[in-house]
Amino acid sequence: MLDEQAKKTILRKIPHGLYICGVKEGEEVNGFTASWVMQASFKPPLVVNCVKQDSRSHAMIKSSGVFVLSFLEAGQKDLAQKFFQPQRRVGNKFDDVEFYLGETGCPIISEALGYVECRVVGAVEQGDHTVYVGEVIAAGTHREGEPLLLESTGWQYGG
Ligand SMILES: Cc1cc2nc3c(=O)[nH]c(=O)nc-3n(C[C@H](O)[C@H](O)[C@H](O)COP(=O)(O)O)c2cc1C
Repeated sequence: MLDEQAKKTILRKIPHGLYICGVKEGEEVNGFTASWVMQASFKPPLVVNCVKQDSRSHAMIKSSGVFVLSFLEAGQKDLAQKFFQPQRRVGNKFDDVEFYLGETGCPIISEALGYVECRVVGAVEQGDHTVYVGEVIAAGTHREGEPLLLESTGWQYGG
């Protein structure tokens, strides 16, 4: 039988960064705080991004086939906090956040360290999150800096 407590304790030791995943559907933009992100191939450059199936962003990625990951800097906890609220509760999260649209039309956070823009090339819809495999089709750096790590925030997402 699965030891639930052991599973939770050990899975929470997986290190994570924090990102704002920017999404779009038609003219509408949205975004959410993401942590279940990693690199998955050098050639072609692929990343995986696991997205909660009942979120608004999930529906938007599913219909548009694109997303962008903006990399947060250590200290940008306020931005992460803003974007983990669901759009259906707080409305437009980009109202008072500076952003610009990338090649994909997805919103990039101007204050982030940099970003990768992705086109979805695969999806595994198992459990409560979809594992989106994204091919990196554009990337940019805004400035140098240390990334924001989930472990430094005291928050948990996992286990
Ligand atoms: C620390 C933290 C990490 C998170 N990581 C993820 C993640 O990797 N994938 C995901 O789908 N949701 C993640 N979330 C939850 C989303 O940010 C949350 O469901 C958001 O409200 C979705 O917004 P939307 O409904 O506007 O798309 C995380 C939340 C927190 C607090």
